Amino acid sequence: MASRSVARLTASLWLCLLGCFGDQNVYPSVGTLFVHKLDAEIYQQHFLNKSGHPHPVSFRANLVGFPDLPRWLRYTQRSPWHSAYLYGSPTIPDKHVIEVTVYNRNTYEILREKIVFNILSATDVPPPYEAEFLIDNMDVEEMLPPEARHNFQVPLEDLWNTKRLSVINVTSALDRGGRVPLPLPGLKEGVFVKVGSVVPFPECLYETQKPQIRQQCKEGKRPVLCPELPASDFSIDWCNVTLIDELGPSPTPLMSEPLKWDGEFNPPSEELGETNFLPDYLLTMLLPILIALLLCVLLSYIMCCRREGVQKRDAETSEIQLVHQQSIFSNTEELRNMASNRDVPRPLSTLPMFNVRTGQRTSPMEFSGDGARVPLILSQQ
Ligand SMILES: *[C@@H]1O[C@H](CO)[C@@H](O)[C@H](O)[C@H]1NC(C)=O
Ligand SMILES: *[C@@H]1O[C@H](CO)[C@@H](O)[C@H](O)[C@H]1NC(C)=O
Repeated sequence: MASRSVARLTASLWLCLLGCFGDQNVYPSVGTLFVHKLDAEIYQQHFLNKSGHPHPVSFRANLVGFPDLPRWLRYTQRSPWHSAYLYGSPTIPDKHVIEVTVYNRNTYEILREKIVFNILSATDVPPPYEAEFLIDNMDVEEMLPPEARHNFQVPLEDLWNTKRLSVINVTSALDRGGRVPLPLPGLKEGVFVKVGSVVPFPECLYETQKPQIRQQCKEGKRPVLCPELPASDFSIDWCNVTLIDELGPSPTPLMSEPLKWDGEFNPPSEELGETNFLPDYLLTMLLPILIALLLCVLLSYIMCCRREGVQKRDAETSEIQLVHQQSIFSNTEELRNMASNRDVPRPLSTLPMFNVRTGQRTSPMEFSGDGARVPLILSQQ
């Protein structure tokens, strides 16, 4: 009885665990960074054990019925003691149901919840001016909480002289070919933050694209630009600033070397290409032919000359056999002659021992000349 009620209790507990987390609805919009936090603390509350110690939790997120997430959505969690994030910048209006499985890393309990992503179309036209910054003293998780993004955005808005800067995308530098730093305090992976605005870039951002600055970056120097930007927790790598101007290359006075317009595109002359093919042709055609010929010669030598040797040996053996046969033949002939010359008596077994009509006995000894022909039944005589 007791065990059954315990079983019922655990079953209802499980039902609660599964049901207590209903479907959640979230509303990302196209072209803007969306971040959904999977709060480790909330799930740890559900897995609390008797001693009251929290358990580490990890998550798995996938599109319902599929093994993975939609392309635009990414997942990250620093460790089972940290909260996880689902983040990304959707590109088309859509509806995704994401299934999140939460694992208790100590007891292997799991619980599931569904998050419905209702992606809304962009309310504004996409911002024509986009700038991407590399913040090299942050990990991607540190940039995802709204406070961090706010702290980064506000001074930049002041510099940009706009109030409508939007964060478009956040990408870990590891996704862009960055390297995992040594596990030392202060060394971070780095994170790319892309912001967009309808207002043109501030002057000092154009400076990052100047050839002098690029040259300094190549030489390994770390130029510090935009001194107007107040000192903050974010260390911007001015060598890795990318500016995207959707309205076409703007004729800015600070860009000392704008791209030159050479008129029509001239394809490279054809003669140059043709002459270059000869060594390639020789290499690809003649070399295999040469090798094939060599192999052919080698094979013919093996097939003809070596086989001739075999035939020779065959002929030799047949000759020997012939001689052998002939000698056997002549020997038998000789033996036969010798046998016919000798007066061989008829075998004793064919000889009549007595005449049936007259009853006269004939001694076989009469015919025998040598002792070897003495019959075994001699004593009967
Ligand atoms: C955001 O960044 C990721 C990773 O670099 C990239 O795959 C994705 O296309 C970006 N999305 C937008 C809208 O720029
Ligand atoms: C940042 O820029 C420097 C110099 O332009 C380059 O060597 C480096 O690879 C860039 N870093 C990343 C993470 O792209």
